[in-house]
Amino acid sequence: MARTPLIAGNWKMNVDHVAAVSLVQQLDAALVRDEHDQEAAEVVVLPPFTDLRSVQVLVDGDDLMVRYGAQDVSAHEPGARTGEIAAGFLARLGVRYVTVGHSERRTHHHEDDATVAAKASAALAAGITPIICVGEDLAVRQDRRHVEHVVAQVDGSLDGLSADQVAGSVIAYEPVWAIGTGEVATAADAQEVCSAIRQRVVALHGDDVGERVRVLYGGSVKSSNVAELMEQVDVDGALVGGACLDPEEFARIAGLARS
Ligand code: PGA
Repeated sequence: MARTPLIAGNWKMNVDHVAAVSLVQQLDAALVRDEHDQEAAEVVVLPPFTDLRSVQVLVDGDDLMVRYGAQDVSAHEPGARTGEIAAGFLARLGVRYVTVGHSERRTHHHEDDATVAAKASAALAAGITPIICVGEDLAVRQDRRHVEHVVAQVDGSLDGLSADQVAGSVIAYEPVWAIGTGEVATAADAQEVCSAIRQRVVALHGDDVGERVRVLYGGSVKSSNVAELMEQVDVDGALVGGACLDPEEFARIAGLARS
C-alpha cells in the first residue's frame, strides 16, 4: 500500500503570529506556483500555539492548500492545568497534526515515553494525528546502541495505543545529534533506523499496521539531501526544522518529496 509522503515544518519557538501570516502566504504561493499536489506529498506547518488562530483564519479564509499542526499537546482533559493546551482546543482550530516527544521536550521538559504515549493518546482521541518523535543522542550512537534505544522508545511511546491508532500515527526518527547541527544522518543511517521502527510496529501490531504507519526522518533536512532520504523504502517523509523557515526552500523540499 502506498503511503502518502509527509513533509512537516517545525517552526519551533520562531515566528510570532504576525510574521506567521506572511510565512504561510509565501509558502502557499510557492506551492501553487510549483503546482504542488497535497495528495502526492502532504505539506504541513507546525507553528507555535499563539500563531494557530491566525493560520487557521488564513487557510480557511483564502482556501490555502497548506495544512497545519501544533508542536505539543496536553495529555489531560480540560481543567485545572495551568499553561497547558487540551487536544480538543487544537481540534477546534482545525489542527490535523501534533508533534509529541520532540527531543527538545524530552531534554528540556523531562518528558518520558509514558508522557509521550499519554499525549499521543489524547491527540488521537481528539482526531489529531500525533507525530511521535524518537531518536538517540550522540553517546548512544557512538556506543552503537541506537537501534535498540530507538526501538525501546517506540515501545514506550506507543504503549496503550490500539493497532488502528498506531496505523494512523506518524513516527519521526530524529537523531538528536543531527538536529539543528547541520549534521545530517546518511540516507543509509536513516533507513537503518526507520526500517527497525517499522519492523517493531509489525512485531507489535502486524504487517498491515506496519505497512500503513508513516515513518519520517528529521535532522538537518534540506533540499540538497531530501531526495536521497526519500529514496529509502522506509522513509515516508521529513520533519524539517531550520529549513522550513525559508518558504522557498521548504517548497523545494516538498517538491522533491513527491512520490
Ligand atoms: P532541524 O530540526 O531540521 O533544524 O535539524 C529538525 C527538528 O528538530 O524537527
